[in-house]
Amino acid sequence: MTFGTFDLLHIGHLRLLARIASWSRHLVVAVSADQLVMHGGKRAPIQGHEERAAAIRRLPMVNEVIVVHGPMDGVGRVKVVARKIELVRECRIDCVAMGSDWQGEYEFLRPYCEVRYIDRTPGISTSALRGSGVS
Ligand code: CTP
Repeated sequence: MTFGTFDLLHIGHLRLLARIASWSRHLVVAVSADQLVMHGGKRAPIQGHEERAAAIRRLPMVNEVIVVHGPMDGVGRVKVVARKIELVRECRIDCVAMGSDWQGEYEFLRPYCEVRYIDRTPGISTSALRGSGVS
């Protein structure tokens, strides 16, 4: 399983997913709902979560896509962590893999599954694409 926003799907996302798929039997991508992305004052994604999830669902290396809406009673960090633990347990996930910008941030899952961090593809990000005038 991997978690992310995956706004303006790009080669960095594709390489990450291909890499995880290469060792996975069943790759589940957990896409953050807009409300979850925006918590803590982050700007809204350009593509809404239905569109982001639909794009990932079309990828041949992805077996399942879920949209993570976060807890119904708010999205503080503690609650988001609890929701991710719940998902890992519900979906019987044995490994969560994230790009290296998340190094150390998913240690809370170690009691429940393996956690891996993968080198990011340099030179590309949603922020860079947005910054260059994509709208
Ligand atoms: N990712 C990657 N290589 C990149 C960009 C992203 O491997 N060049 C990975 C991230 O590390 C994360 C996943 O793709 O595990 C989803 O990343 P996301 O935050 O949605 O995309 P970014 O392009 O990193 O977006 P932003 O610029 O908003 O951080």
